[in-house]
Amino acid sequence: MPRWLVPRAAYLHVPFCRTKCLYCDFNTYAGKERLTGEYVAALAGEVARRGAETEGLPFETVFFGGGTPSLLSLSQVRRLMDTLRRSAGICADAEITFEANPGTFGRDYLEGLRALGINRLSLGVQSLDDETLRRLARTHNAAQAFAAVRLARDAGVPSANVDLIYGLPWQTRETWQDHLARALDAEPDHVSLYALTVEEGTPLATLVAKGRWRVPDADSVADMYEAALPLLERAGYRHYEVSNWARPGHESRHNLTYWRNEAYVGCGAGAHSFVQGRRFWNVRPIEAYIRRAATGTLEAGDERLTPAEQLAETAVLALRLRHEGLAFDRFRHRFGVEPARHWRAHLEELSKMGLMEVTPQRATLTDAGLLVSNEAATRFLG
Ligand SMILES: C[S@@+](CC[C@H](N)C(=O)[O-])C[C@H]1O[C@@H](n2cnc3c(N)ncnc32)[C@H](O)[C@@H]1O
Ligand code: SF4
Repeated sequence: MPRWLVPRAAYLHVPFCRTKCLYCDFNTYAGKERLTGEYVAALAGEVARRGAETEGLPFETVFFGGGTPSLLSLSQVRRLMDTLRRSAGICADAEITFEANPGTFGRDYLEGLRALGINRLSLGVQSLDDETLRRLARTHNAAQAFAAVRLARDAGVPSANVDLIYGLPWQTRETWQDHLARALDAEPDHVSLYALTVEEGTPLATLVAKGRWRVPDADSVADMYEAALPLLERAGYRHYEVSNWARPGHESRHNLTYWRNEAYVGCGAGAHSFVQGRRFWNVRPIEAYIRRAATGTLEAGDERLTPAEQLAETAVLALRLRHEGLAFDRFRHRFGVEPARHWRAHLEELSKMGLMEVTPQRATLTDAGLLVSNEAATRFLG
């Protein structure tokens, strides 16, 4: 069964956080931890039902994301893992990722996760500046963030990622380089670097709109991205996606599913799924999710893209992958098109501009192209 129709990846959403960070627009809530028990029961119910969608094939990747999955107790995580194993099942060599916020767990907790089969930890470090962390309402300081990576090592977690944000208020190119270098000193296996998005409706957006906080301009943010490239390369990380770097063998298999536009199931409040060419999503509020789980009516909406829309969307996502890019054989196999012919004008134009490299096998964005990846990719939508 094709991987773009039948899901081999499962995402489980944990929408609880200790505080709501000032920049965050994810479907997460502070002050609702009292609902965790009921939520996990509802989530386990959904996981049990959705297992049928894999047509008997076990999951190859599982991702506990949030929110803050590390606010779950080990017995709650065990319940969810047991349910996954009893429903579709989990491959013996599956990648099982767990997002964790520094300061919310200790070594015993990580050893417990290891014993349950979790083999990849994703740590939200964000910044290594204490004052920035405090102002953004993070619940940890820089030392705790650094220690969290070491803790993962000591607990025998085989793969650890750190998330960092650049373009933060008060950040300069120099402080950013310094923080990134310090984060790399902790020797993570994988690094995700996100440019700060000032999301509408967040407290950050209000502070910026009122002129109380200033964020670096677009050129400075692009400089920060460029400044990161040689640092990561020298430290042995391979740049495999616009915002992601990995030591060899530590690329996120789960996220590759999204970038290849392949099928996945998403369980939990507000989670999105892509199954048999249909996208659908659950109700967002925790209370509504718990209530509607009882009647099995979790879906809040859906859409089905036309084949042309799917082709365009898959191309836009593929361009994010620095080495894989638009892999021509994948497109031939999945869509029955000859990519070099179908997009000839775009490939030629982008190559002339120095933004793309085209070989007989694939078209990939160059470093200059990755810097303007959104603009480059929009051509493929039209
Ligand atoms: C789904 S969030 C959850 C991670 C985890 N709860 C934490 O904050 O430590 C994943 C990542 O998205 C990034 N992120 C969240 N909001 C962002 C924003 N407005 N701009 C840029 N990156 C953001 C952060 O780096 C965060 O670690
Ligand atoms: S801890 Fe993570 S998910 Fe929660 S509010 Fe902060 S950034 Fe968002």
